[in-house]
Amino acid sequence: MTPASGNRGSAGGDSGRRPAGRVPSEQNAGGVGPIRYLPVLIPPPEVPPDIDGADHPVREVTRGVAADETSWTSDTAAEMTERFDELAPDWSNRLGPEEFVGLPDACERGGLDPAALCLEVGSGTGFGTVHLAAHFRRVIAMDLSAGMLALAPPGLAPRVRADGAGLPLADDSVDVVALINMLLFPSEVDRVLRPGGAVLWFNTLGTRTPIHLPATEVAEALPGTWSGIASEALWATWCVLRREQAAG
Ligand SMILES: C[S@@+](CC[C@H](N)C(=O)[O-])C[C@H]1O[C@@H](n2cnc3c(N)ncnc32)[C@H](O)[C@@H]1O
Repeated sequence: MTPASGNRGSAGGDSGRRPAGRVPSEQNAGGVGPIRYLPVLIPPPEVPPDIDGADHPVREVTRGVAADETSWTSDTAAEMTERFDELAPDWSNRLGPEEFVGLPDACERGGLDPAALCLEVGSGTGFGTVHLAAHFRRVIAMDLSAGMLALAPPGLAPRVRADGAGLPLADDSVDVVALINMLLFPSEVDRVLRPGGAVLWFNTLGTRTPIHLPATEVAEALPGTWSGIASEALWATWCVLRREQAAG
């Protein structure tokens, strides 16, 4: 496996982005519950970044662990850690704060309660944590890479070094799991989320993000039936999904 190099990949390819303001109809694919696409409030500039991570090797890893968490091994974790420890000092040149301006929109229109306890997995250097800490009363920032965590602004959230494949948290212990340009470990996310909790999935460059999945694939990968809200903001795609509870 060649681990991620973050949001910057090779150039070229179609972003697959919908025109701003379009509201596609509800979708329902396989075991996926309805996903309602909201209008775009922050349209993208005409010229997108000259970056496309669609063919980045980490896209394969993203799909791989979402489909089968056992494809993530201790070797994969070690490689990923080493890679992001190396990338950390240059991370603020790879991504800019403007890529995250859609997060407040996702939190608000996704209906995420500010009183919730939010666990951000793959928090990196804290570009997203800034917005999460502004929205939620309590945030925990978790990442595999000590190098990335060390560069996150102090005081926003407790920073914990841990692997998303084996979260050091009790079952049903958090209200929201936020994954921003981060791999999806479906059963771990489902395990730590309390019933009725939400997954916030955010890809800063939309389909151009190396670690990207569309809302329907996120819902499909999670155990049970998940439904929710999705939209776009600037170049980002996002969704907020909740597991449908058994009646009674
Ligand atoms: C593409 S970066 C995104 C960082 C940050 N969310 C951002 O958007 O700037 C992916 C982050 O996830 C972390 N990561 C990768 N695999 C992980 C895992 N299994 N558990 C926890 N963190 C992981 C990496 O160390 C890295 O900081």
